[in-house]
Amino acid sequence: MSSSLFSAQLHPGRALGFLVLGASLHDVLTRIKAEPQRFPKIELYFQSTAPVTKEVIVGLPANGLRLQFDGPEQRLRLIEVINFTKNHIFFKPANDKERDLVRPPSSSPTTDSTPEPTFRHIYQRFLGPTYGGEFVKQAGDAGLYILSYPGVGFVFPMKASEYSPQKDVVALLSSSAVPKSMAIFSDLRPLSKGKDVCPDEVSLVKIHGGGKVQLFRKWTNNSFWIHFGETTPQQIVAELGPPDAIYRKNDQRMYIHKLRSASNTAGRPNGKDLKQHDDMTDTDQSSLNPSDGYESNEEEAVEDEVANVAGECFYNYFYLGFDILVSTPTEPSEPPPSSSNKPTPEPPFRSTNPHRQVATKLILHGNVPGSYPFNRHRRCRWEIAYLGKGDDEDTEDQVPNSETPFPELEEKLKEEWKSIYASEGEAQQKQRGMVLNRGWGDSPGSSIEMLGGWEEPGAGMGKKFEGSEESTTTLYGYPGLVFEVLRSGAVSAVTVF
Ligand SMILES: *[C@@H]1O[C@H](CO)[C@@H](O)[C@H](O)[C@H]1NC(C)=O
Ligand SMILES: *[C@@H]1O[C@H](CO)[C@@H](O)[C@H](O)[C@H]1NC(C)=O
Repeated sequence: MSSSLFSAQLHPGRALGFLVLGASLHDVLTRIKAEPQRFPKIELYFQSTAPVTKEVIVGLPANGLRLQFDGPEQRLRLIEVINFTKNHIFFKPANDKERDLVRPPSSSPTTDSTPEPTFRHIYQRFLGPTYGGEFVKQAGDAGLYILSYPGVGFVFPMKASEYSPQKDVVALLSSSAVPKSMAIFSDLRPLSKGKDVCPDEVSLVKIHGGGKVQLFRKWTNNSFWIHFGETTPQQIVAELGPPDAIYRKNDQRMYIHKLRSASNTAGRPNGKDLKQHDDMTDTDQSSLNPSDGYESNEEEAVEDEVANVAGECFYNYFYLGFDILVSTPTEPSEPPPSSSNKPTPEPPFRSTNPHRQVATKLILHGNVPGSYPFNRHRRCRWEIAYLGKGDDEDTEDQVPNSETPFPELEEKLKEEWKSIYASEGEAQQKQRGMVLNRGWGDSPGSSIEMLGGWEEPGAGMGKKFEGSEESTTTLYGYPGLVFEVLRSGAVSAVTVF
């Protein structure tokens, strides 16, 4: 048992070992999955009807840990230790010796017979005295007393009849009281604005239509524009760093895969739709799971590739949440009808060389829990800027975005684009959904047990998600956009061109 014991230093308000508040779900799961002996069981809890708005919880039952992430950003917000016998937690105050929350079971033959922390130990030795805690009433006479320190709290069971706001904490809790859990949280706002969060990461992608997107850096107003058909791979690498992998579009495996996905597609596309179909299924081809060993094969080649790109390929940015297609120039999509009111910058210069390599497409990944490609990429948030009301900052939160349920998004897109179609019939024909089944092979999240359908985090933790993941998605196309939509209405990916 002690060999697999999770041992970690407590940093109140910041971290528990390598689990750092503000880290992305993708990053945390990728690290945890890389150590199956230390973390033998991974459970993922999410609400299957609201997978990107409600919190997502990672349960590590063999380690006595539970990690809570928010839905829209998928950032670690709360670390809970729910079984103290399955881990070894220590604290190192500045200018003092390291202290154990509980002695590891193997090395405590004498003193404390209980392998669990007591109130006395926490209050007198581990963290020291603190101010009065908070009482939370539960059903009947049950309740919880939360002993708080900045950035860390201990939850003790306490009957409502035993609690009195007049009594201080020492009078309320017996010295041998054992907490049922410990929580580590950030007491800074905003929560994730920590040193450990990479400041250069892209936090939002604004889609302007007409082949223009704007990538915003976290914590700043700085942005970087990509003009499809103009922005070069060198400019991309200068702004975003080298990609995590480069995926050749004309790879043999991809070709086989393409045939399979085409044969699984419902309906009989005509010639024109076939071209569209090729655009639509790019999310499939854009990347393989890094755990397929693909990433490591490519890594060394990246520098060379960047300098000497030949043929169509995807730049995979798994840790930023998107892929960029680099190819010879294609015509960018037409500007949205309403965009004449909202001018956007033009590319600094236009090249006329038809053989040059440029960015022609961007695939933004939603990393939706329960979806087939879950945990291949970090979640990337986006908004469709041209569907906003104007430049007024106050309306910013109404701009349709990555959390908007697709039916709502669809309504606004139909309204925006209706003038380009000759008739309603034509609009319906062009905009109809197309079913895609990607249930082949192992999904990137295959070693994670998916447990959708809970209502309240912590309470019973819900039932198993039907099937390990959702392999059927529906594709919807608009000028310059293809959405990949799950049954819940959550958008799992959007391709912009
Ligand atoms: C904690 O883990 C131990 C060892 O697996 C188990 O016996 C105990 O019941 C667990 N405690 C709780 C509160 O789940
Ligand atoms: C970003 O811009 C807004 C309004 O234009 C301003 O209030 C804010 O301070 C800026 N933030 C940073 C980090 O520069």
